[in-house]
Amino acid sequence: MKIAVARERDPGETRVAATPDSVRRLRALGHAVGVEAGSGCAAGVADEQYREAGAEIGAGMAETLRGAGVLLSVRRPDAEITACLGEGGMVVGMLEPYRDRSGFEAFARQGVIAVAMELMPRISRAQSMDVLSSQSNLAGYQAVIEAAAHLPRAMPMMMTAAGTIAPAKLFVIGAGVAGLQAIATGRRLGAVASATDVRPAVKEQVESLGADFVMVESDEAAETEGGYAREMSEEHRRRQSELVARHVTKQDVVITTALVPGRPAPRLLSAEMVRSMRAGSVVVDLATEQGGNCELSRPDEVVSHGGVTIVGHTCMACRLPADASAMYARNLVSFLSALSGPQPGELVLDWDDELLSETALTRDGALIHPILLDDGEGK
Ligand code: NAI
Repeated sequence: MKIAVARERDPGETRVAATPDSVRRLRALGHAVGVEAGSGCAAGVADEQYREAGAEIGAGMAETLRGAGVLLSVRRPDAEITACLGEGGMVVGMLEPYRDRSGFEAFARQGVIAVAMELMPRISRAQSMDVLSSQSNLAGYQAVIEAAAHLPRAMPMMMTAAGTIAPAKLFVIGAGVAGLQAIATGRRLGAVASATDVRPAVKEQVESLGADFVMVESDEAAETEGGYAREMSEEHRRRQSELVARHVTKQDVVITTALVPGRPAPRLLSAEMVRSMRAGSVVVDLATEQGGNCELSRPDEVVSHGGVTIVGHTCMACRLPADASAMYARNLVSFLSALSGPQPGELVLDWDDELLSETALTRDGALIHPILLDDGEGK
């Protein structure tokens, strides 16, 4: 099987779906690998490094995809790229299943199998394929680094002859993978951390990182079977808003990461709350791509309101392209290893296996995933 990697076309995308290490691993599985020239440029990988790892470098998209059965990508490629794959070909990437269904209809018409890595079930066997975790982890780390860069003060406590600097206060809203990493990173930099979430299960994790946990006490079910948060009732939102409003006035850094799969990000930080924050404090909104947790964040902009800086980078992991690509490429290799058949270079598509049945969006010319069939409602 030839596996192709096309250069990412999205101007903000710095990551790449393969690294020299992942090329070597794919070659060891018996696959040929084609990489479009310049694919690794923004992540600091030269074509020569891919070549040394055993990949063929294609001058353009058509040449790279010639004879390929699988296309690995970071973002959803245009249909004109997947057209080069042909019927029965498979595209594997972070395909954003909740966005723009017509793109998937085009894949279906081409007879392409589209696999959305974001839908990988969170089961032990698939942990090494979990792209949401690998990218969120880096995003959580980078959010603190960005906050520190914009903060007009130091994070750690410093006791010096010239006086004592108090530690910065960091508040994380949404303590999933990104939020927990933000707490850990903030703590390593010496900040005093606290966090909130709608899922009571995270209390222990937050506290084990040395942060305080604050939340609305409620009997409302906050978690889906898949472990994700639910959209909460209006009453819960009102009480949570009061809690956040009280808490943010004392913070130097607020990092928001709250997401609900398939829904716009919950609005948790209003303009009024930002106005109540101390001048010089920083908000980093990791949910900007899904509409933002903060009313004032602007996609891919750093804005200032009343002395409060609001950072709205839509792809925080893209700011660490070398590590983000390395982690992502390993996720893809794990997935393809799991599909490997007994012969070298063979892929066996077992449609009863949840690794495939839960991630495949199109097959045999049709949309097959409930997210697309239920018109966006999904799971
Ligand atoms: P996510 O990226 O979907 O959301 C981020 C966080 O925001 C979550 O903790 C969520 O509960 C929280 N949130 C949502 N709405 C909120 C609101 N209104 N107010 C405050 N917080 C809100 O979450 P992520 O990081 O993908 O984690 C989801 C779950 O998956 C967690 O239980 C995590 O432990 C679990 N997980 C399981 C893995 C596995 O079993 N392989 C791997 C990684 C995560």
